[in-house]
Amino acid sequence: MSAVNKSFYLTTPIYYVNDAPHIGHAYTTVAGDVLTRWHRQRGESVWFLTGTDEHGQKVMRTADQNGVAPQDWCDRLVADAWKPNWVALNIANDDFIRTTEPRHAERVQKFLQSLKDADHIYAGKYEGPYCVGCEEFKLPGDLIESGDEKLCPIHSKPVEIVNENNYFFRLSAFADKLLAHYKSNPQSCQPESARNEVISFLEGGVSDLSISRSTFDWGIPVPWDTDQVVYVWFDALLNYATAVGLTDAPDSAGGQKFAQTWPADVHLVGKDILRFHAVIWPAMLMAAGLEVPKKVFAHGWLLVGGEKMSKSKLTGIAPKDITDHFGVDAFRYYFLRAIPFGSDGSFSWEDMSARYTSELANDFGNLASRLAAMIEKYCGGVLPAVSNDAGLSAALAETVAKADTAMVALDFQGGINAIMEFCKRVNGYVTEKEPWKLAKDPANQAELESVLYNTSEALRALAVLLNPVMPATCEILWESLGANEKLGAIGNQPISKVATWGQLPAGSKVTKTPVLFPRLEAAE
Ligand code: ME8
Ligand code: MG
Repeated sequence: MSAVNKSFYLTTPIYYVNDAPHIGHAYTTVAGDVLTRWHRQRGESVWFLTGTDEHGQKVMRTADQNGVAPQDWCDRLVADAWKPNWVALNIANDDFIRTTEPRHAERVQKFLQSLKDADHIYAGKYEGPYCVGCEEFKLPGDLIESGDEKLCPIHSKPVEIVNENNYFFRLSAFADKLLAHYKSNPQSCQPESARNEVISFLEGGVSDLSISRSTFDWGIPVPWDTDQVVYVWFDALLNYATAVGLTDAPDSAGGQKFAQTWPADVHLVGKDILRFHAVIWPAMLMAAGLEVPKKVFAHGWLLVGGEKMSKSKLTGIAPKDITDHFGVDAFRYYFLRAIPFGSDGSFSWEDMSARYTSELANDFGNLASRLAAMIEKYCGGVLPAVSNDAGLSAALAETVAKADTAMVALDFQGGINAIMEFCKRVNGYVTEKEPWKLAKDPANQAELESVLYNTSEALRALAVLLNPVMPATCEILWESLGANEKLGAIGNQPISKVATWGQLPAGSKVTKTPVLFPRLEAAE
């Protein structure tokens, strides 16, 4: 099959189900949702995958501690916590993969067998430190000394010593090829700090990787030795490919899906799991003769007290604690707007309240409600004749170009800033034109109507541009502008046409919206 209809394929990590999601997981998944919605509005075919990572000791031990069988534990967490959380945050994923599904396990076994057959796997003995929080075989240089204990720097917990016979993947054989790949394709690992980290890690030398475990059984059996289960990361990384039909015959539905989606365009991850994605995963693909992902993007951490917010450390804030107060769309907006994607940041109730009030309620929400009120009052609720303002329409064209460049480069802050700058510009236009003064003299009616039409058009553009970030709010605004009838659904408005001025038809019925961003209740 040709790559004619190649989809823009984006993935999030598949999260461990040792606990319910916190705002760190929501951060990645919202970013993925915003980016895929943006690409859909660019008219591209898109495939957006998320899911859950259910095998391994971390999940198994949590289930044990709760006196529940691991599968039951996973089923419960996925149904009661993970899936509803993504629905609540308005995440439009196309698929949700669980590593305990047969479609995944069967393909993992097939893939593993093919690597074994091609001599990329051999039997050996592993002895060394392991962090169950990371599910990672650690290198001595990775650890922090604390008295006579060695701690994982991410989880601040002692590592365990593993001593097992298991199977190894010849990872070391791919180090040079990986280095060459990252050196010649700067786009393939971003931001630059992440790419530099991967390059220096590879330059330091890479050992072969243990890819099976024999001391517990919560995992996918190794096909040729069922006393062993597949190492949880080897299992988990494959989700990105098993979910779209890896190993299926080329002419089957799975095979065609694979041809349409692979290689993935973006694996979105937190910087905690960069090495797995930028070293182990592409080496696995190279061993199988498959293309490596086009881009791994490692964003920063949401911090609590200067440390990574974490399920293991019980420092997680539930998304609901924030959305109950600010609403879902403000949540989706805030983290991408406030933190440069790639840098660490902290959640601050004060900062979020301040941005909510000044950027969302005042600059954006008020503009929409003022406009609808003025059209009702001065134009009988009907959109006046099409008009144009050269300054506004030029500013819009510039905004769209800037926002598109930033968004496709995963510079969410830059993209949102550009759009909100335009929103400010429109407020300035209304302030300068003073339509309420024009309305005092009937001789100004034509000019008044022109100002109101131009403001409506600017809001039409703002609704489309902000739709990937705040879809529920923008839908309300779209309806209030009466845009559906002539222009169709907001999600179908192409980014490439946003700057075409004069799309709202004269005569549309404009209705007052419920307040888009209600005044905040004082926090308890
Ligand atoms: O690592 N700040 O799952 P996980 C920002 N199952 N993002 C955060 C975050 C924080 N404080 N905490 C978590 C795993 N995240 C594996 C992944 S993929 C084949 C397997 C986000 O439940 C961020 O995306 O520990 C991070 O990389 C991911 O959740 C880790 O989730
Ligand atoms: Mg983790």
